[in-house]
Formats: sequence, structure tokens, C-alpha cells
Amino acid sequence: MNATTTTGPAPAAAPTRDNREKMLERAMTRHNYSGSALIEVLHTAQGLYGFLTLPLLHTIARKLKLPPSRVLGVATFYHFFQLEPKGEHTFVVCTGTACYVAGARKLLDVLEHRCAKAGCTSADGKVSVASARCIGCCGLAPALIEDGRIVGRVTEAQLNRELDQVGVKP
Ligand code: FES
Repeated sequence: MNATTTTGPAPAAAPTRDNREKMLERAMTRHNYSGSALIEVLHTAQGLYGFLTLPLLHTIARKLKLPPSRVLGVATFYHFFQLEPKGEHTFVVCTGTACYVAGARKLLDVLEHRCAKAGCTSADGKVSVASARCIGCCGLAPALIEDGRIVGRVTEAQLNRELDQVGVKP
């Protein structure tokens, strides 16, 4: 899946970097960086990244001026928050409006058929699948994040080829 990644020569509409950080910041600004908005902010973060890593939780704690232990406590208490992808590879499919209209559902179908349902990891531990609401590059719809790298205008054929490459059985 090299043609439309964020590296290399990009078309005019392509983002030059990952916008998710900015979008998370905007969400916290909307809540005036209030600690009482922690759950909403965690939801937004998980929607953007697909799961909540420890560095991400630490950033949220710092920005909302909350003890990291409190943020970690909340993130681990609620079962709908996922702390780490468990698979060797992670595919986060954007299911925001632009991506959905452009065929994100078909991409999720491929992943769910060959690997695991969104929010789960394949039985062989190879691939974790997640969905996110909008990852900030709607001009590249449908987009996904493969192992932390944004890939745009993804087709089912491309995704199938990528899964073949990482060793997922057809
Ligand atoms: S809707 Fe997918 S990047 Fe915005």
C-alpha cells in the first residue's frame, strides 16, 4: 500500500502529517481542559487512535491536570476503553462520514472476514482490528491506519494484498 501513504509525493489534498493530535487538542479545548470531561476526552482519543496507549493517557493527564493514576484508573475501569492493540499488526479503519461514504464498510468487512471483528485480535495474534471516527484526512477517504501509518484511498484489493504481505491467510 505505497501509492497514497503520507510519505512520498502526495496529491494536493493529502495531509502532510497526522492530524489526530490537533483534533484531540481541539476536543480538550472544547471542554476547557476540564478534568470532569475525562471520559469524553478518552472517548475522543479512542475514536481517533483506535486504542489508548500509555503515552497518550499521560498526555491527556497532563493536559487535563489530572494525576496519571486517575486517568489510567478510569481507562482500565471501563471495558469499552482498549489500552493496547494485542496483535503483531494493527489496522484502524476510519468510519467517519467521508470514509464511510467512500467504502470504509467494505474495508472493515475484509478485515473482519480475514482477521477479526473491530475491537478484537485475530486468533493467531497477528492482526488487531479497530475502527475510529475521523482521523483527520477526509480528503484521502477511505483511509486507515496501518501500524501507526496513515494510508489513504484504500481499495479492497490493496487491503487484501497488504494482509497477504503480513502473512494473513486468504
Ligand atoms: S472521515 Fe475518515 S478521515 Fe475524516
